[in-house]
Amino acid sequence: MRKIKVSAPGKLMLLGEHAVVWGRPCLVTAVDRRLKISLEKLKEKFLEIEAPSVGIKSYRKNLSQLGKNNPPKKTRFVEMAVKNFADKYSLNFGIKIKTEDGPPLNYGLGSSAAITVAVLKGLTELSNQNLAKKKLFDLAYKTVLDVQGVGSGFDVAAAIYGGTIYFKTGGRKIEKAVNFDLPLVVGWSGIKADTPTLVRKVAREREKHPQIVGKIFDEIEGLVEEGRKALLKKDWQTLGELMNINQKLLENLGVSTPKLAKLIYASRQAGALGAKLSGAGGGDCMIALVDEKGRKDVEEAIENARGKVIKAKIGVERVRID
Ligand code: PMV
Repeated sequence: MRKIKVSAPGKLMLLGEHAVVWGRPCLVTAVDRRLKISLEKLKEKFLEIEAPSVGIKSYRKNLSQLGKNNPPKKTRFVEMAVKNFADKYSLNFGIKIKTEDGPPLNYGLGSSAAITVAVLKGLTELSNQNLAKKKLFDLAYKTVLDVQGVGSGFDVAAAIYGGTIYFKTGGRKIEKAVNFDLPLVVGWSGIKADTPTLVRKVAREREKHPQIVGKIFDEIEGLVEEGRKALLKKDWQTLGELMNINQKLLENLGVSTPKLAKLIYASRQAGALGAKLSGAGGGDCMIALVDEKGRKDVEEAIENARGKVIKAKIGVERVRID
């Protein structure tokens, strides 16, 4: 039976996290840590999943049962993606999905969104559907919401559109910002962040202090707009300053941590043009904007502060059939 390989990039939030959950824009960039899967048609109408890297050897479920009986956490995104595709476009074959080896994506670089997008892209290919990017986005975003309940969809958009994009909540706007590599250093804090919990924490904060938190979101929106212009001009100085301001606003929202702050300050001291956390906060990654001459110093500063530098090209190609 026909077998294909699909890969989807990870993501990093450049500016605008949290505010983007609440109707504001953000800038998100696709990262060259690609999640790779293979998909093979099966005669019997079953879904089979093999993901040895997360300890799943052979998961098997009748297509008519997808989403039922509380699927295990580790298969949930794949299972819901197949279910949503089958519900919308029908599936007249079974499917075996296997994750392929590659550099790990589990640093908060968007593996859930990437696997969801890769599965849906593979299914469109195997069933000869030619879905427009926005249709693929809508189905992938629905899948992410079905599984985790909250989220703006920015990570899904990064995997589907690639490059660096200007994105508004739920895909109300998805526009290419720029298409070149960005001079970023990525540092992992060593702590895994729980995104839905942090999104809910900010939601509670917003409920308690609607005026104040609304103003913080407005300011973040302003700096995303400025950042988009700076990016177009490759005005790294301005972009770095905006990243620093964004970090302050995220601290005000209560989502930074001492460890993230330590890596951020270390990289600024080592000459970064700007640095901030990237994503929900609480852990995962920070990013530092550098001029290429200063990259090594910033990388060393992050390692000395006990962060892990994640090497990856930034602003890369979208999901593709390999
Ligand atoms: O934790 P991450 O890397 O998935 O980023 C979350 C970013 C938020 O804006 C907090 C949530 C979202 O879905 O936009």
